[in-house]
Amino acid sequence: NDKPIVILNYKTYLESSGDKALSLAKDLESAYDETGIPMIASPQAIDITKIKDETSIPVYAQHIDPIKPGGNTGSNLLESFLANGIDGTLLNHSEKRMKLADIESLVTKAKESNLKTCVCSNNVATSEAIATLSPTYVAVEPPELIGTGIPVSKAEPEIITGTVDKVKNINKNVKVLCGAGISTGEDMKAAIELGAEGVLLASGIIKAKNPKEALLDLVSKI
Ligand code: G3P
Repeated sequence: NDKPIVILNYKTYLESSGDKALSLAKDLESAYDETGIPMIASPQAIDITKIKDETSIPVYAQHIDPIKPGGNTGSNLLESFLANGIDGTLLNHSEKRMKLADIESLVTKAKESNLKTCVCSNNVATSEAIATLSPTYVAVEPPELIGTGIPVSKAEPEIITGTVDKVKNINKNVKVLCGAGISTGEDMKAAIELGAEGVLLASGIIKAKNPKEALLDLVSKI
């Protein structure tokens, strides 16, 4: 599938928690039905099962811990997500940074379980390092733009072109996403024109009055 993709990181906004997590997933599902642009939900762990049960969209965990089954109170165990039908996971989000060695072991374990991995990076050098691990996606997000509504595709286009350049040099099969401040059709179009193969976003959709319309607008220009 060469179409650009949209991953919606639910984070821990009230507007994307509990019942609202499911209604947002239904918006993603109908936006996919209407546009054919793949839409992926990344809800909090507790909201995953109901979204898997009641929609057909792919669901990614927001984070998985580098642990083995056993005594790890409060942690996210890969095997448990697998048992609940997860399709993939974000790793190393700037709000949940990880050690490189832990990212590597989780990307490897995820691959063995046919899970997609979307590993976040904060700049071109980190994107390059992550590309050597061959995740499904590298998602570059300048932390200072996250949640600001100032789109990375306008404010720091060189971080997208630089990431695409370095990542593709290492492994053409790793797809590049970008995020931070993306909310409109213009923002996503600019990202795609800079070489991104999709977007990872949150507040622009989650905080919109009508998230479904915001999703349709997001993909209206590609
Ligand atoms: O993971 C997506 C994210 O960090 C970007 O957040 O709110 O700027 O779209 P936002």
